[in-house]
Amino acid sequence: MQKFVQYAPTEIVFGQDAQSDTGKKVKKWGGSRVLIVFGGGSVVRSGLLKQVEDTLIEEGIVYEEFGGVHPNPLMGYAQKGVEEALAFDADFILAVGGGSAIDTAKAIAIGTANSNATLEEIWEKQFIPKKSLPVGVVLTIAAAGSETSDSCVLTNEKTKKKGGLGTDLNRPKFAIMNPELTYTLPKYQLTCGIVDIMMHTLDRYFTPADIEKNQMTDRIAEEVLQTVIENGQKALKDQTDYDCMSELMWCGSLSHNGLTGLGKPREFAVHKLGHVLSATFDVAHGASLSAMWGAWARYVMMSKPDCFAQYARKVWDVEEKDDIDAALQGIERTVAYFASLGMPVNIPDMELPDQQGKVGVLSDEALEALADQATLGDTIKISTLQPLDKKDVLAIYKMANKKEQ
Ligand code: NZQ
Ligand code: ZN
Repeated sequence: MQKFVQYAPTEIVFGQDAQSDTGKKVKKWGGSRVLIVFGGGSVVRSGLLKQVEDTLIEEGIVYEEFGGVHPNPLMGYAQKGVEEALAFDADFILAVGGGSAIDTAKAIAIGTANSNATLEEIWEKQFIPKKSLPVGVVLTIAAAGSETSDSCVLTNEKTKKKGGLGTDLNRPKFAIMNPELTYTLPKYQLTCGIVDIMMHTLDRYFTPADIEKNQMTDRIAEEVLQTVIENGQKALKDQTDYDCMSELMWCGSLSHNGLTGLGKPREFAVHKLGHVLSATFDVAHGASLSAMWGAWARYVMMSKPDCFAQYARKVWDVEEKDDIDAALQGIERTVAYFASLGMPVNIPDMELPDQQGKVGVLSDEALEALADQATLGDTIKISTLQPLDKKDVLAIYKMANKKEQ
C-alpha cells in the first residue's frame, strides 16, 4: 500500500426523519445566520425546505434562501451566492439537495471566507484558500457523494471548463441522510446516480498499483460495487423500497469519501472525459460517465489486465481463467448493466447536437475540440493507469462515438 491519510470527518445522521435534526446540527457546528442553498424547486415541492426551515426556527437560527442552482452548477451563480452570503453576514451554509446544490454551497462557503479572491481565481489556483465557512447538507439524491467528499465541482461558463477543487476545507460538517427523501427522484436522475456511485469506486479501482498489495481497499471497493449493482436493479422496480434506497445512499457516501481508493494512486480519468462532455453539452454527470466508461476501459485494459480480470471475477462472478478474456467479459457485463438501467453507453446514445445542428454522432471537429479541452491543448496527460495524451483521448472519444464498439 502507498502511504495515505484518511480524513472523513463528516458527521452522518442517517435514517427516517433525520431532517428533523437539522437545526440542532447547525447549532452544534456554530451556525446562527444560515444561507440555505437549493436547486430548481424539488425541495420546495416536496415540502422538505419548509421542514428544514422549521427546525432552524426552533433553534432560534435566522436564515435566508438561495435557490435556483442548476445541475452542472455554474461558477457565476455560485459567485452571486457569495455576494448574498456576504450581504446577509452568513456564518453557515446549508445545502438542501444533491451534488449541484452541495457544490454551490461549498463554493459559497469558500468564496465568502476568502472574499478578497474570486471563485475563478481560487479554481485557477491563483489563490489558495486556507479557510472556509462551515457547510451542512440535507441530501436528497444518492449520487455525487459530495455530502462527504473533499471536492467541489463547478463549470466556468466563460471558459466552458468543468473542474473540481479538492481540499479538506470542502468536507461538510454534517450530512443528514434520509433515504425516503429520494423517493421523488425522476427515474433518469436515479439511474444517473447509480452510475455515478459506481464510477467513484471504478475510477479509483483501476490503477497501476499491484493488486496483491492492496487487498483491503480492493475488497471494500468490490463489495460497494456489488451492493450498488444489486440494489440499483431493485430500485428500478420500486424506488420507494426503503432498504434498497438506504443501501444506495450509504454506498454513495462510502464510494466518494476516499475509502475505496486508499493506498493507491489517484485515477479519475473517466470523470475527466465526462466533465468535458457535460461542460460542452450540459449532459447529466452520470450519463457522461456511462457513455465514456466502455470506450475508456477497452482502450486501457491491456495496461493492467490482471486488475480488470480481478474486477470481472470478484464483482461479476466471471469464471474465465484467462485474464484477458475475463477482463473483456467484465467490461461487457458493466456496459450491459449501464444499458439495462437505460443509461447511454456511447456518445450517439446521448443524442447530442453537434455544431452543424445534427443529432447523434459527433463530427471529427467536435471530437478534436473535446480532446483538446480534456488535455488542455495537449499540455497535460490524464490517468495514472496509462497516461493519456491528446492523441489517446481523441482515440477514446472516437471509439465512444460509435454505436457498436
Ligand atoms: O434542482 P432540483 O429541483 O432540486 O432537482 C434536481 C436536479 O434536477 C433533481 N433532484 C435531486 N433530488 C431530488 C430531485 N428531484 C426530485 N426529488 C429529489 N429527491 O435531480 C436533478 C439533479 O440534481 P443534482 O444535484 O445535479 O444531482 P447530483 O447529486 O447527481 O449532482 C451532480 C453534480 O455533482 C457533481 C457533478 O459533476 C454534477 O455537477 N459532482 C460532484 C462531486 C463532488 N463534489 O464530490 C463528485 C462527482 O463526481 C460529481 O462530479
Ligand atoms: Zn462523479
